[in-house]
Amino acid sequence: MESPVFTPVNIGPVTLRNRVIRSAAFENMAYGNSPSQDLYDYHVAVARGGVGMTTLAYASVNRSGLSFDGQLWMRKEIVPGLKRITDAVHAQGAKCSIQLVHCGKMTHRSTCGCMPLGASSGFNLYSPTFVRGLKKAEIDSLVEDFGNAVDLAREAGFDCVEIHAGHGYLISQFLSPYTNHRRDQYGGSL
Ligand SMILES: Cc1cc2nc3c(=O)[nH]c(=O)nc-3n(C[C@H](O)[C@H](O)[C@H](O)COP(=O)(O)O)c2cc1C
Repeated sequence: MESPVFTPVNIGPVTLRNRVIRSAAFENMAYGNSPSQDLYDYHVAVARGGVGMTTLAYASVNRSGLSFDGQLWMRKEIVPGLKRITDAVHAQGAKCSIQLVHCGKMTHRSTCGCMPLGASSGFNLYSPTFVRGLKKAEIDSLVEDFGNAVDLAREAGFDCVEIHAGHGYLISQFLSPYTNHRRDQYGGSL
């Protein structure tokens, strides 16, 4: 009997040719925060290998959400570069997803361009850095940034988006007191 792993599956309106999904694992190939040939080659190779869907990892919805120089930053000017990747992945018969994130306090001023933002003000020993808690209006604006990033992903031909709400990044900082502030202020690791 054929394993169900190799049978098609629907995720909402999207049909995958099998149930193997390359999970988001940060590639660090978005030099200048933009898609590169390395990022293209990597995901096209994964698609050629036969997965049902591959995932571009850890794309920040705005500038303040960046924690690496080699990380995608969702903005209009990178849509053609992303579209080139989704087209090539589709040509291999796979679907293509992108993971959207804001890293919150898990960054440094030199990368995100401001004092790192978090669910609460404090000090993050992991970076290490002082952290400024978001104001209400800034939270509303961030919600807009996530929505805009989804629109850009759709324009770039992605079949799915994945919202990163784990690993101590911004959404997780709101959801979990453990990743929020008290513990790491006092030296606990994440
Ligand atoms: C180098 C590396 C980078 C990763 N980056 C991400 C990431 O950007 N987003 C994410 O949700 N998970 C990330 N992960 C977690 C993986 O997606 C995956 O859930 C984890 O490695 C467990 O799967 P595995 O047992 O097949 O390795 C990363 C893992 C590794 C090893």
